[in-house]
Parts: sequence; C-alpha cells; structure tokens
Amino acid sequence: LKEEEENQSEDSKSLISSLPSDIDCSGTKLYKYQGCWYDKDILQAILKFNKIFQPQETDIIVASFPKSGTTWLKALTFALAQRSKHTSENHPLLTHNPHELVPYLELDLYLKSSKPDMSKLPSSSPRLFSTHMSFDALKVPMKETPCKIVYVCRNVKDVLVSLWCFENSMSGENNLSLEALFESLCSGVNLCGPLWENVLGYWRGSLEDPKHVLFLRYEELKTEPRVQIKRLAEFLDFPFTKEEEDSGGVDKILELCSLRNLSGLEINKTGSLSEGVSFKSFFRKGEVGDWKSYMTPEMENKIDMIVEEKLQGSGLIL
Ligand code: A3P
Repeated sequence: LKEEEENQSEDSKSLISSLPSDIDCSGTKLYKYQGCWYDKDILQAILKFNKIFQPQETDIIVASFPKSGTTWLKALTFALAQRSKHTSENHPLLTHNPHELVPYLELDLYLKSSKPDMSKLPSSSPRLFSTHMSFDALKVPMKETPCKIVYVCRNVKDVLVSLWCFENSMSGENNLSLEALFESLCSGVNLCGPLWENVLGYWRGSLEDPKHVLFLRYEELKTEPRVQIKRLAEFLDFPFTKEEEDSGGVDKILELCSLRNLSGLEINKTGSLSEGVSFKSFFRKGEVGDWKSYMTPEMENKIDMIVEEKLQGSGLIL
C-alpha cells in the first residue's frame, strides 16, 4: 500500500507541475485543475479523491463556492436525509456544527488521509459529503455511479463581503482589504474560483442531468424556504409525507436549521474545527444585499459587468 501511495503522489506531483499556476491575493500559489484554482494540498486531495473515491448511488453531495450558504445547506440536507433517525430532542445538529456532520471530500476526508475510513462517517445510508471543487473535478470518479449533487449559489457581491468578513474574523484583525479581495475575485484567481466557472459547471450539470444535480439559490431559500426545502426533499428522494406536512414537519426542520437557532447553540458559540476555525465565524448576518453597506458604486459596476459577460449565453443570472 505504501508503494502504491508513493507512486500516486509521484503521479500527482508531475501532473501538478504541468498545470497552469498563478499567485492569489494572499501570496499563495494556486494551480488550475478542471476549470478552477486550488492550492497544492487541496489539489493533491482532489487528485486522490478522483482516483480512489467509490461512489454509492445513494450518496448525497452538497456543493458550493465558499460563503454561498454551504453551512445552511449542510444543515438542511442532514436534517432532511437523516430525519427518520433522530428525534428533535437529541438531534445531532443541536450538539454538532453542520461542518462536522457533512465533511468536505477535499478539505476534510482526502486532505487528512490517503484512504479515508468511510465506515466512520457521521452519516450512513445515505452518506453525506460536501465540496467546493468544480463540477468537472467532482464528476471524475462518478462515471458509472452518479450521486445526487445539491449546489447552492449566491449573489457574487454578497459572497465577496461574506468572504471578506470571514477571512478577517479568522485572522483576528483587518489585514485583508476589501479592495484586494475584490480584485482577486474579479481576476478569477482565488481558491475554488473563478466563481463563475464554479457556478456555471453546476448550472450546466443541473440542466443536463436534473435527476442528479439540483441548483439552489441562497436568495430563494431566504424568500421561499418552504418551497425550496420541499424541492430539496423531493430531489433527494425523501419527500415530505402529507402527515409530516400537516404536523409541522417542514417548519420544524426550517426552524432547527435557521441562522438564529444554529448560531445560538452552545456548540456553535464556543466550538471550533480541528484547524482552529471557530464555528461562530460561519454564522454572521445572513442578509441578502448586505454588500450595499460595503461596496462602492464603481466596484458594483465592475463586478456586475464581469459576471454578466462571463455568464452570457448560459441562461443563468447571478
Ligand atoms: P453572511 O456573511 O452574509 O452573513 P458558508 O456557509 O458557505 O460559509 O456561507 C456563510 C454565509 O451563510 C454567511 O453569510 C452566514 O451568515 C450565512 N449562514 C450561515 N448559516 C446560515 C443559516 N442557517 N441560514 C441562513 N444563512 C446562514
């Protein structure tokens, strides 16, 4: 096994050195693979995932560009898909952060181990995973066995502001300027970016194969949560029964996963990921249009123009 691993890492090293590379706004070297940019460690994890992940038909993968509502969608997906197994009194979401319950393929599982032990996942039948990698990279090991993929997208300007607040909450001081992050997002050279490539991959995937790829919007989850959660439940093959609807089952899940509820839980106020990122940094305002308090009209125009041009002809508006 060791020899096999060494060969694999030699293979991935030579692949990585053949890829286009660039430097992001924090000085990190990124490599472009299957349409998007990653640092070396994450890319190696993606390559391992591409080689050895064995999908099961029932797997569910929550996908997103960072800061688009991943935490919320993880909570909703977990609550929906595992609802027959837990009562509302001792629900895992009351004592665990959603990121602990739905691990990232490339940032948790394959980053930390060359052969993750899938028998130790927080959820089984269905297994729940998440990812920020591109749709093309995610699909590599799924040729024969496609899984269910749920993607959430969000207004680019809200993503930018959310990302900026998140980065600065982690570093403890405002050492990354909004302008620098803005330029980086506009150039497309940022972790898991370009944002529009990340979104477009899943958008096209959802048009080509709606049975396996569901495309959700953060804004719609906010304005019509009941409609969207029912759509999600049906897509996942866990539709609400009439009895569940009549007895308030839909609202119970929405309430459990609400920003207000999750952010107020002890675990999310005091806990942190093993890498030290505190759970509270995943919960902020959750407002649509919060970018208006931070961005200048010039920034607004520039990013709107770039996104419009990049999405032209796709039928997608962000
Ligand atoms: P803001 O920074 O705009 O408040 P991600 O989960 O992809 O990292 O995205 C984080 C964004 O989602 C943050 O947005 C955060 O406040 C918001 N968020 C987190 N949990 C949420 C929930 N349960 N409901 C709605 N929004 C949530």
